[in-house]
Amino acid sequence: MSQKRLQFTTKLGVIATTVGSAVGLGNIWRFPYEAGEGGGGAFIVVYLLVIALIGIPVICAEFVLGRSSRRNIFGAFRHFSPKGKWHYVGYVGILASIMILSFYSVVAGWTMEYIYQSVSGGLDYGTAASFQGQFDEFSHGNWRPLMWTVAFLLCNLLILRRGVQKGVEKMSNIMMPILFVLLVVFCVNSLMMDKAGEGLQFLFNPDFSKVTPQVVIGAMGQAFFSLSIGLGTMMTYASYFSKKTDLRLSATITAVLDTFVAILAAVIIFPAVFSFGESPAQGPALVFEILPAIFSQLPGSAVWSVLFFVLLFIASLTSTISMSEVSIAFLIDEKKMSREKATWLNTGIAIFFGALCALSFGCLGDVKIFGLTIFGLFDYVTSNILLPVGGFFISLYAGWVLDKRIFNRELADGRRSFFAWLMRFCLRWVAPAAILIIFLSQIGVL
Ligand code: PHE
Repeated sequence: MSQKRLQFTTKLGVIATTVGSAVGLGNIWRFPYEAGEGGGGAFIVVYLLVIALIGIPVICAEFVLGRSSRRNIFGAFRHFSPKGKWHYVGYVGILASIMILSFYSVVAGWTMEYIYQSVSGGLDYGTAASFQGQFDEFSHGNWRPLMWTVAFLLCNLLILRRGVQKGVEKMSNIMMPILFVLLVVFCVNSLMMDKAGEGLQFLFNPDFSKVTPQVVIGAMGQAFFSLSIGLGTMMTYASYFSKKTDLRLSATITAVLDTFVAILAAVIIFPAVFSFGESPAQGPALVFEILPAIFSQLPGSAVWSVLFFVLLFIASLTSTISMSEVSIAFLIDEKKMSREKATWLNTGIAIFFGALCALSFGCLGDVKIFGLTIFGLFDYVTSNILLPVGGFFISLYAGWVLDKRIFNRELADGRRSFFAWLMRFCLRWVAPAAILIIFLSQIGVL
């Protein structure tokens, strides 16, 4: 089986697919709303620290484990430690991937509604208040969000059925560069708004008195979510890399570009938030309410709006494809299922839970678990608990259990390398200790 495994074809393909997985709603929708709720600057400082000290080492660990074993997350641990219990980490990853796919598809469905509204001329570019009303009306009505969630999952299915290589690589190659350009245009536009200074102040002037355990855990969760790590996505993708792929370079480029896009999104959103007199801490609706207001400032609003939401939709697809691949690769490799069946099973489960998440903005809004809606719970549990738990064990495994020679061979062709040493050091000590301390302080033990 291992020889026949599909491989990404080009160097650009590798970068584009890993960046395609990392860049998505996490950067453009979730980062601004988390940063807004976490107090802006303080959140961003913690976020950057987590990316550098935990994020990049964990991407490297996933790359090493995936490429050297040529297996999915469950199979990789089984391969190296057939007798141990490490493959349970695989179950955590698979659970996280299905839960993320479920609530992520709801938000991706919102982008489809916005494409539809911009094309049909239904989107109102009036005032910030009217955008809010529009979004509330749409998300509270049950049928449309439900329909778009299912529609999105079917789009995801269509691409997944064709296999990783053809679908994903092609789309990511074309879409990523256009998205960057568009974001830069919006950024310039936002920087010219009246209260741009206030927005930048909020983002880049950290008030460290705002750093609470809650903010730290939010920043850590966001970093894991945004880099697509802790659940075996990068591991599964690395199992399709060729021996020639430079893992160090791919890991660094992925982390840098992903962070760059998140910061760019925040620089687009916050000047507008302050200029339109909105509150930064509005939660998941933030971006969907502010973006139309931003487009209203540009000539040809509807054109920008369509273009942007189409790109966001594609960015979401390249991310959901990667997370779906976690469970699909598991079902194909370990359960010997056909790709067709595995893909349908993945989609079926996600439609069920996705529907619950979609309706939790409407008729299921009163169903609260630990004070959170179903959507909120899925979002919180995956990013802030499951992914860091996965990342904790992946770090320990790559740092302490995996043969050091395999680690060095994958990361540095077996040569002496400061980078490989540093990554291993972080995986042995820094990442696990940091994750543990953050968890303990969250539950009040520290
Ligand atoms: N990183 C993706 C984003 O930012 C989301 C994602 C999470 C993708 C986990 C795969 C796995 O949108």
